[in-house]
Amino acid sequence: MDHFALQSGVMHAEDVALPRIAEDVGTPVYVYSRATLERHARVFREALDGVPNKLIAFAVKANPNLAVLKVLQRQGYGADVVSVGEMRRALAAGIEPAKIVFSGVGKTAAELEAALKAGIGQFNIESEEEGIELAEIAARMGCLAQCALRINPDVDAGTHDKISTGKADNKFGVPIDEAGQIFGKLAGQPSVNLRGVAVHIGSQLGDLAPLERAFEKLGNLVTALRGAGHTITHVDLGGGLGVPYKQGETLPSPAEYGAMVARVTKDWDVSLIFEPGRVIAGNAGVLLTRVVRVKRGINDPFVIVDAAMNDLARPALYGAYHDFAAVEPGGDRMTANIVGPICETGDTFAMGRDCDRLVTGDLAVFRTAGAYGATMASSYNSRGFVAEVLVDGDKFAVVADRIDAGEIMDAERVPDWLE
Ligand code: LLP
Repeated sequence: MDHFALQSGVMHAEDVALPRIAEDVGTPVYVYSRATLERHARVFREALDGVPNKLIAFAVKANPNLAVLKVLQRQGYGADVVSVGEMRRALAAGIEPAKIVFSGVGKTAAELEAALKAGIGQFNIESEEEGIELAEIAARMGCLAQCALRINPDVDAGTHDKISTGKADNKFGVPIDEAGQIFGKLAGQPSVNLRGVAVHIGSQLGDLAPLERAFEKLGNLVTALRGAGHTITHVDLGGGLGVPYKQGETLPSPAEYGAMVARVTKDWDVSLIFEPGRVIAGNAGVLLTRVVRVKRGINDPFVIVDAAMNDLARPALYGAYHDFAAVEPGGDRMTANIVGPICETGDTFAMGRDCDRLVTGDLAVFRTAGAYGATMASSYNSRGFVAEVLVDGDKFAVVADRIDAGEIMDAERVPDWLE
């Protein structure tokens, strides 16, 4: 459920008419709904009521906007970060260091040091090599690094290959067969408190069965590690729950996910960590765009919008589907190819899509753009970076300025010796 709906024939974000935002801020612009974010945060938390000890750490990569993080911080959420840049954002939003989990296969020495200095709650170590390096840095700094070992369970999450992370040949975590031995080695490091294990098998999961298989494997590993004399107090179950991108599409609900987790983990006697991203932010945002012109095509017309693959990369990268709707639908429909202005054919949001009839100057939205939207933007074709707005009831604020192509050019220079 979200708060983007028609009121008197005009699409609103909560109680703000989208044309007002387009008028004030220009297009393209991401529009987020605070009420939707809060609702999703609450629904996910309530779905886990059956889990006694837990931390819900929002996957910052899904939407790192400071205002969005602030909304979630106020909901008691922690943060799952994958770079010092994301860590700084989480801290700036007021998220306590103890509620920050640092994942990622390529944490640099400088990042490990900065995160130790900040006193974050947990490092999810993705390799033996990283664990040794972290132990050395922590020893040098005279601190104790709280850690979990990320396990690659070799489970196919059944999602798009590019966002699948738990198969044996993916780069993430340590192979489950070697986990006991690597755990033993790293647990022996005095500057490391290796207190648990972590798993994340992929994103936009439409089936709970692979997740359950991965969790069961992790549960068996916890038993084996305890059997070998290790103390396990924390297990991080990652994120991955999918959201509906198409009207009428059904996916496992947070409640079903929560019930499965409670059932599988009931005897684990650990604190659980969750890293949801998309399920919190996905349906809390739309990308608002204006039709530049409609061009005749061989078959269907091309609706050329002022948003492009640099603003919303998911269709070009993954062939992802985003619902497309007019802000002021007149009732007529058309079949069209929805494209952006960028000079490559990949800049296509949809081919042969049945959608509201649109003409030059009309406003439209790509739905479910609140996760992995603005954060994946680039300035390709020197188009600058898209602006972001947060709506709260009948008010709204620009929460990320548009960075125009000129400002980006200002950061570049031609060396003297080329003049
Ligand atoms: N934890 C870890 C370690 C992750 O790698 C991810 C996502 C998450 C949590 C959050 O997963 P979520 O709950 O959002 O599914 N750009 C892609 C998605 C990449 C996901 C990467 N990892 C997309 O647009 O679909």
